[in-house]
Order: sequence, then structure tokens, then C-alpha cells
Amino acid sequence: MPVRTWELPLLLLLGMGLKAQEALPPPCESQIYCHGELLHQVQMAKLYPDDKQFVDMSLTDAPDQVLWSFSALATAHNHSIPKQQLQEFVQQYFQPVGQELLPWTPEDWKDSPYFLQKISDVKLRAWAEQLHEIWKKLGRKMKPEVLSHPERFSLIYSEHPFIVPGGRFVEFYYWDSYWVIEGLLLSEMAETVRGMLQNFLDLVKTYGHIPNGGRIYYLQRSHPPLLTLMMDRYVTHTNDTTFLRENIKTLALELDFWTVNRTVSVNLGGESYILNRYYVPYGGPRPESYSKDEELANTLPVGEREALWSELKAGAESGWDFSSRWLVGSPNPDLLSSIHTSKKVPVDLNAFLCQAEELMSNFYARLGDNVQAAKYKSLRDQRVTAMQAVLWDEQKGAWFDYDLETRKKNFEFYPSNLSPLWAGCFSDSGDVDKALKYLEDSQILTYQYGIPASLRNTGQQWDFPNGWAPLQDLVIRGLAKSHSPRTQEVAFQLAQNWIQTNFDIYSQKSAMYEKYDISNGQPGGGGEYEVQEGFGWTNGVAMMLMDRYGDRLTSGTQLAFLTPHCLVATFLLHLLLGFLSP
Ligand SMILES: *[C@@H]1O[C@H](CO)[C@@H](O)[C@H](O)[C@H]1NC(C)=O
Ligand SMILES: *[C@@H]1O[C@H](CO)[C@@H](O)[C@H](O)[C@H]1NC(C)=O
Ligand SMILES: *[C@@H]1O[C@H](CO)[C@@H](O)[C@H](O)[C@H]1NC(C)=O
Repeated sequence: MPVRTWELPLLLLLGMGLKAQEALPPPCESQIYCHGELLHQVQMAKLYPDDKQFVDMSLTDAPDQVLWSFSALATAHNHSIPKQQLQEFVQQYFQPVGQELLPWTPEDWKDSPYFLQKISDVKLRAWAEQLHEIWKKLGRKMKPEVLSHPERFSLIYSEHPFIVPGGRFVEFYYWDSYWVIEGLLLSEMAETVRGMLQNFLDLVKTYGHIPNGGRIYYLQRSHPPLLTLMMDRYVTHTNDTTFLRENIKTLALELDFWTVNRTVSVNLGGESYILNRYYVPYGGPRPESYSKDEELANTLPVGEREALWSELKAGAESGWDFSSRWLVGSPNPDLLSSIHTSKKVPVDLNAFLCQAEELMSNFYARLGDNVQAAKYKSLRDQRVTAMQAVLWDEQKGAWFDYDLETRKKNFEFYPSNLSPLWAGCFSDSGDVDKALKYLEDSQILTYQYGIPASLRNTGQQWDFPNGWAPLQDLVIRGLAKSHSPRTQEVAFQLAQNWIQTNFDIYSQKSAMYEKYDISNGQPGGGGEYEVQEGFGWTNGVAMMLMDRYGDRLTSGTQLAFLTPHCLVATFLLHLLLGFLSP
């Protein structure tokens, strides 16, 4: 891809002596899990309903041996191997999925963490207790073989056990882990949190960044950067300043990755502002969604395919895979092939980094390094100024993603438009109350089941009608920063709506979901795969909301109308919940 003018400042930054991450391993050269003919043939033959399955299978033999056998097979069939032979080949050289991870019950799990006492509604409290139980089902640790023979696995070895999101996501995911960690701390599982943090820090030391998830095929891309925030939550909870001191340089290294590899410059009104974007300068289909990416690329001229794949990977890096946020232009803006993630300056990414810079400044101050504290304070202040100039819209009262090509803001509604409030990344305290008006103007408060990811129905999973737990958190805790009782009341009402949706579905299906359909209060849909159960961040956010508003949240309207019939219903629901708990 040609170098665009907004990419030039990056070269200048490098020249200014920021640590370019040399001597790091290339982000995945595997001819089995990342690219190459074997991957192509197997994925295009669609041996499994979900492409992720194949790239999660481990090898029964050394990779060279497997590749050599495959090469012989491909030659024998003139590179067009019948499905049957391909299937036999995979059966011979690959193990079924899920063999490399063991279930793990966190050692620091205990009954009755304190936060449960803060929940007045008995049904909600019983449910919160079950959410607390679910950590035991989502705990995983690695088999020793992953350490002794890493070349046979797509899984990246982690020393410490961890909590996974659930469903098809059996490895850890970067930004998911922040909300998981919030939940774990409410469950008083600081040891588990420390292990997860250590895993992330080890990844930064090895690769210079944290991959999207714990597989080598995710190494080319990262995920919304929340490591510094995770550390802050852990340190606040434990006062473990020693751990902070030991790892502060690694936190700084992770932020350097975003500075060196993900910076853009925006020229506006004669000023130049440095901000960040999601950007993955690697082509090829995503290994875990290979056939979909290949087929989508086939709808474009050959010369545009590598760029499409790079933009899809950047979309995955954003965590919003996929969304109308990243789609542009004509003829059909809802077509995924119009994805241009790297041409947008996202509000949430810059809010996350702004917060990370502020936390780094606080960390260094705590450790007595005033020079570094001042450096990060100044980076944070520059970013607030840049966000104010490029992303903020005074008239609408919110921030908006900025398109580098059209040089315009995207005025569609997204909960991420309010993420600077959540991140404490604004200079005018009146901004919080403008946000309430913005939500009212966007008609967002009329959705009783939760806040939608957008108002555009594109069929993508990060659009209408899906609601996602982390996006509820961004808006609710953002509004809750207001000094105005009315704005705070709206924050509470949004929390009540979301808890009600989660609780009602749990009562019906005994499951927590990755996302919900806020048009009808059912589990969500759309996107590239079936809705998943588990579910790490949903549980974490539900626990956070119950911790914060436990004295006021209710499990339903039954309590408001306690007629004899409703009492019977309440009693039956109790029995049901009692039956569900182990
Ligand atoms: C092998 O496939 C190529 C391209 O599909 C074709 O041109 C060639 O004739 C084939 N060779 C044999 C021996 O079948
Ligand atoms: C951490 O330290 C602060 C200040 O020294 C103290 O107020 C707080 O109670 C401590 N928290 C824990 C969990 O020890
Ligand atoms: C980040 O940029 C550096 C310097 O250009 C490069 O060596 C490294 O591979 C990049 N990291 C990733 C994950 O792309």
C-alpha cells in the first residue's frame, strides 16, 4: 500500500528516537496457521462449519514433517486435492480442538465475596452468586506440551492460568480481559488477576505488543489497549506497588507499540494533531475466518484484495468486528468490502490511550519518578487537546470518529462516542451533561432492553440491534461522572435496563451471552458466527453494575405488584434459581 501523508509523522517519531521494536519475532510466519497453501486448501474446502476450528487444532508431528507430507499430497493431486483426501490428511496430522487446554478451578475462588451483600434484591443476589460460580467454568490452564513443543500449537504458551470469554473463544482475548478482571476483583480473586496480568506482560516482553487473543494467528493485530487500566484496577485493589514497580517499563513498552505502529497525524486549521488509529499492515485473509475473507475479496478486483484483508484485520483489532463504524462511501455503505478501518481516527481508541497516559503518569508519581510522570501527563494533555480539536463536536455534545480521507466526522450514533467521559478524558466538566442531551437527541433512551451498538442495521454484529456489555459500561459509567442528579438517574436507569435483560434471559436459558438483541431482549445475532455463551465480559459488567447499584436494582416488575399470583410466580422463580445453583 502506498504511504499516505498522514503516515509520515510516524517516520519522524521513529527518527526522534522512540524505541523501534527491533529484534522482535515477525508476527507469525507459520506456513500452517497463518498463511500458505495448506491453510488455503483446508479452509477453502470448508471441512468445518467455523474456520476457527482448523487453526485451533494442534499438530501430531513436527511442522516440517506435516508440510512435507502436504507438499507430496498437493503435488500428487496437481494442487487440487479432493475433499476426502484433505480430510484424511487433517485427521492424520492434526488433533481435535481443545486438547491443549485444561479446565482450571481458580485457587483463590471462595464462597460469598463481599459485593454480594450489597445487592438488596434477593433474586439478583442469587443470580450474582451464580455469576461468581461461572468463573470456575471459564478457568483454563495450558498443558505442559504447549511449552515443550510450541511449534505444534497455534496456542501461545502462557505460564499462568486465566479466564476465557467462553463458547468458541477458548483462549484469552485482550480487551475482554479488562471486564473479566473487574468481575474477578469483585469476586476477590486478585491472585488470578495477577496471573493474567503477568501473562499479558510476558507477551509484551516477547512480542512488543499484546495480540488480539492467545493464538499465533492473532499476532499481527492487537486489541483495544486496556492493559494499563487492568494494572490500575489490580494495584488499587491490592496496593501491590512492588508488582507495579517491577512491570512499569513493560507497560510503557506496550504504549510505545501504539505510538510507533499506530499513530496518525491530522492537519486541521493549520495545526497538526497526533492521534491513534487501528491499523494492521499485513495482507492475507484472517486465518480464523479464512474462507469468508477469501470469498469477500473475490468480489473485488485483484489489486484491491490485500488492502481489504488489511482493513478487515484492523477491524478485528478494534474489537468492533464488524461495524458500520468502519464502512465507507458508495455504492453500498453497508457492504463489508467497503471497510476502511485504518482511514478512521476512532474516539474510543484515543480515549483508552488518553486514560492509559494519565494512569502512567499517576503510576510514575507513585513510584517517585517525576520526570516520567510529567512526560505522560504532557502526552495526555496533548491528546485531550487533539481529541477536542478533531473529534469533539460542540453542537452535538459528543465526540465522533474522524475520517482521514473525507476529512469529516461520522455523526452516526455509537456508544463509543461517549467513551472520553468513561475514560475521564475531557477538560470541561459540562461535557457530561451535554452527553445526556446527545443521548436524548439520538433517541437512545427509548430502547428499554439496553443501548444498541449503533442505529444502523447492517447485519454486522457491532451494529443495531445488538447491545454489548462493555458498551453499556462505557455509557453508564461515563454518565455517572456527572454532578447532575438527573444525569446520574439516567445512568442508573440504563443499568437497570441492562441488568433486567441479562437476568431475564438467564432465568429462561440459564446462560449468559456475549451480546443481546436490544430490539426484543433476546440473545444477539448477526456477524460471522453463532452467538456464544459464557460469557466473560457480560458477567463482569453485570457484577460491576450490581456492585454499584445493588441497593436499587430490581430483578423485575414482580416486586412492584405483589398480588397473590405474582407471589406464586416469585416463589416458583426462587425454586428455579435454587434448582439452577449447583
Ligand atoms: C495441473 O493444473 C494446471 C492448472 O490448473 C494445468 O494447467 C495443468 O495442465 C495440470 N497438470 C496436469 C498434469 O494435470
Ligand atoms: C491501600 O493503601 C491505601 C493508602 O495507604 C489504604 O487507604 C487502603 O486501605 C489500602 N488498601 C488495601 C486493600 O490494603
Ligand atoms: C511495529 O513496528 C516495528 C517498526 O516498524 C516493526 O518492526 C514491528 O514488526 C511492528 N509490529 C507489528 C506487530 O506489526
